[in-house]
Amino acid sequence: MGLKPATNPDVEAAAIELSIDGKSVMAKGGVSLYDVISSTGKIIPAMCYHYTFDPFGSCGMCLVMQEGKKAPVRSCTAKATAGMIIRTEGDDLFQARKKAVEKHLSVHPLDCPVCDADGHCELQDTAFQHGVTNLANAKQKFIPEDTRSPVLDFNMNRCIACAECINVCKDVLMIDALQFMKKGGFNQVVPKGDLALSCEFCGDCLAVCPVGAITNKFSKYLYKPWQMKKTATTCNYCGDGCQMYLETKDAEVVRVTSPLSWKNKWGDRAETAKGHGGLCVRGRFGFEYIDSPARLKQPLLRKGNQLVETPWLETMHQVVDRFSEIRRKHGPDAIAGLITARCTNEELYLFQKLMRAGFGTNHLDSSARYGHLNFVQASRHALGIGRSLNDWEDLTKAKAVILIGSNITETNPLTAVRIKEAIRVYNAQVVVIDSAVTNIAKLASHPVLITPGTEGLVIDGLIKATLELDLIDEDSTKKHPQAFKALKAAVAHVSLEQVATHTGMSVQALKDTAALFAEAPRSIILCAEGIVRQSDGYQNVLKLIDLAWITGKLGQPGCGVSTVTEEPNEQGAVDMGVAPEFLPGQASFNDQEARDRVAKAWGVTLPAAGSGVNLVEILKRCRSGQIRALYVIGENPLATLPASMEVRAALDRLELLVVQDPFLTDTARMAHAVLPACTSAEKDGTFTNLEGRVLRVREAIDPVGESLPDWHIMTALANALDCQWEYESSNDIQAEIMKLLPGYYNLGQPRKVLPTVDRYLSNGYTTDVAARYRAATPADSKNQRPFALLMGQVLYHSGKLSTKAPGLITIAPNTGRLRMNPQDMERLAVGEGMTVRLTSERGSMQLAVQPDHSIASQTCFFPEHFNEPPVKDLMSVQVDPTTGVPSFKQTRVTIEKV
Ligand code: SF4
Ligand code: SF4
Ligand code: SF4
Ligand code: FES
Repeated sequence: MGLKPATNPDVEAAAIELSIDGKSVMAKGGVSLYDVISSTGKIIPAMCYHYTFDPFGSCGMCLVMQEGKKAPVRSCTAKATAGMIIRTEGDDLFQARKKAVEKHLSVHPLDCPVCDADGHCELQDTAFQHGVTNLANAKQKFIPEDTRSPVLDFNMNRCIACAECINVCKDVLMIDALQFMKKGGFNQVVPKGDLALSCEFCGDCLAVCPVGAITNKFSKYLYKPWQMKKTATTCNYCGDGCQMYLETKDAEVVRVTSPLSWKNKWGDRAETAKGHGGLCVRGRFGFEYIDSPARLKQPLLRKGNQLVETPWLETMHQVVDRFSEIRRKHGPDAIAGLITARCTNEELYLFQKLMRAGFGTNHLDSSARYGHLNFVQASRHALGIGRSLNDWEDLTKAKAVILIGSNITETNPLTAVRIKEAIRVYNAQVVVIDSAVTNIAKLASHPVLITPGTEGLVIDGLIKATLELDLIDEDSTKKHPQAFKALKAAVAHVSLEQVATHTGMSVQALKDTAALFAEAPRSIILCAEGIVRQSDGYQNVLKLIDLAWITGKLGQPGCGVSTVTEEPNEQGAVDMGVAPEFLPGQASFNDQEARDRVAKAWGVTLPAAGSGVNLVEILKRCRSGQIRALYVIGENPLATLPASMEVRAALDRLELLVVQDPFLTDTARMAHAVLPACTSAEKDGTFTNLEGRVLRVREAIDPVGESLPDWHIMTALANALDCQWEYESSNDIQAEIMKLLPGYYNLGQPRKVLPTVDRYLSNGYTTDVAARYRAATPADSKNQRPFALLMGQVLYHSGKLSTKAPGLITIAPNTGRLRMNPQDMERLAVGEGMTVRLTSERGSMQLAVQPDHSIASQTCFFPEHFNEPPVKDLMSVQVDPTTGVPSFKQTRVTIEKV
């Protein structure tokens, strides 16, 4: 509960007995007395306490009488101890609390009629409960409002100095962007240094503020809380799957609020390992894309050179006629489909069913192909499980974490909060191995900066160090002597000194990391974009699994190898079978038993075993004319993939391009028909987050314009193709998935999985492993271009969707500038805003530069969300031979001043 739990997560706090209002109560010893009282159902007022951070004890509201003490005690800061006799009620306590409210109100402006918190304010509630009417001595504060932040306004006249905002920012988020400052005789909350707020803009401070002192710029003065409808749903930005409330007024999305709130102030601190209920900036302030004026409101049909608004019926007739004609003339393999992992499970399921049962083709893919499939394929190959082995609770309670190739505070900020809690509460040792100076590296016990693209070599070094230091788990390796021998032979050529030279990770750091990982009781490897979105991603995940195997970390509680997902439903896309290699449930498409089961359930014959191609091959076949019709749902390959993949040429050659999307994307502009789709705020369904939790998505507003949910459009299309589908809601689709995949919908529960490495180690491993640890052949540095150009995600954006959210664009607009290390800029004699020529083997362009201290020397960075200028076109593409994952996030460049 409120006070920090034991730093060893495996040791339960001792149970104690105490008396509250004459009743005996059992509790965990050492936790906040306030939480013990709340656990009995008695809610006493508390204005500065929240169980997610350490008690502050300033407001004087949570008073109780403890037998043996003359004066009331503050229950938030008092630790529960055995034998305590506590009284929470009585006129003496009522009067003491009333005095505290009067004190707060005496310096509060009482501008409730124009305060956004009116009706959702703890000070109002407690004043009302205590009948506070005497405000004769009220003092006025005249503090100017601080409106400098792009998302939050600070009205310190309303502040009751409870410090909840400061504490959540410092204690839970470890960002520490706020402080108290005495000005004009009053304590005020100001951004650090009294400068304009510079932080992650997560808005958790706003969520915990019990009054209206911190306000949301987007919803200020619009509506009172009770005028809005509140819909509990799941964030549509990343794979963390945060729970949120979309607050709407009729068709307008007014604001997003979180389960983290001053209202939910009591709980069990140990439970925060499952999440503290907050959101990141994208979730809280990135909602405006939903009712953006740029939304497509009607179908568009190409007439001549124009896309013309056309009624649904006419558009669907055209689409169905042209798909049918192409199928009739050229067969089902002339049709392919791509879908975004921002769709719900039900829609993803329906998509693969439509492609396979409706069109009869197995040419289909999703955005999970951009990297997550490297992890899924490797983990499934070695362990029989195509997903992360760990959930948030495992991460929080880990004693050692190796975070490799993951800028997690930017890509998955709430998973990052779990790692921060592991560091802060459970004293975890965290090794961050990255080619950028990431925020999480600044908090880690062992930050390691490596040369870009050498993550695989680092893993070789870690395995070699583990062997050299004899950090082997005998139980795990002696069961498979042949496999272990093969692994040792495979890494025989690896020299720690050479690894250190090529990667920049010292021999000592390699040894320390190996020892720390092997010796900790709960050890997790978390790999992300720097592994799964880079070439050799599949092999590198397998190497990480090797490391976990020989150190005995597979199958142990709280241990494992895991990843994160960038889009909200990449795991769902794989689980629902949206890949040519998978049927629903990740069954192999070629597995006859699974094929029979699915074919029987659908009442169709499936496309032939072995048929079907993935994204890269689909585009090739579009270019060659073998694929003539492409159905694209929510994907935008033209804006995502580099020019060398010749997407424009592929789309140009198509006889039919149908794009279904909430927005007129670059790809949609080339389409023959554009079908307006809803966002996740306008439909029901589920997402599967990176832990394997299936989470509800709920309709908060009616569809914008004539847009329709993707499942609805697909059902109409399938029926026009004679499929006779009878889905009337996403629940109907869910019911079908439940029959096919019993147990999949364990809503809200993470899917705990037990890896089974034995099958792999005794069957096929020895052949596999020989090819896995190839001798490093680093390119001759003299012949190499001197800089590594990296493209990746930034905190304030997610894919291209966030660029449609004005709030996020205000915080992080496209500067069009290349980010560089300031020392490199100095060496090249270029100042901020000056233009450089950036040249890769794929071409050259000119763009301005900006300094960025998080960029390591000899590297430069451009956010992947923006294509002005089209930096992505400088990238080469490498396609993984096993998984078909195209990697295009890194290349070598020269930078010259112009
Ligand atoms: S918005 Fe988030 S990061 Fe910024 S001050 Fe508030 S709690 Fe801290
Ligand atoms: S701004 Fe709000 S949360 Fe922060 S100290 Fe003031 S009243 Fe408390
Ligand atoms: S961490 Fe991910 S899921 Fe959570 S609010 Fe941010 S973008 Fe949404
Ligand atoms: S003093 Fe305990 S809640 Fe404020």
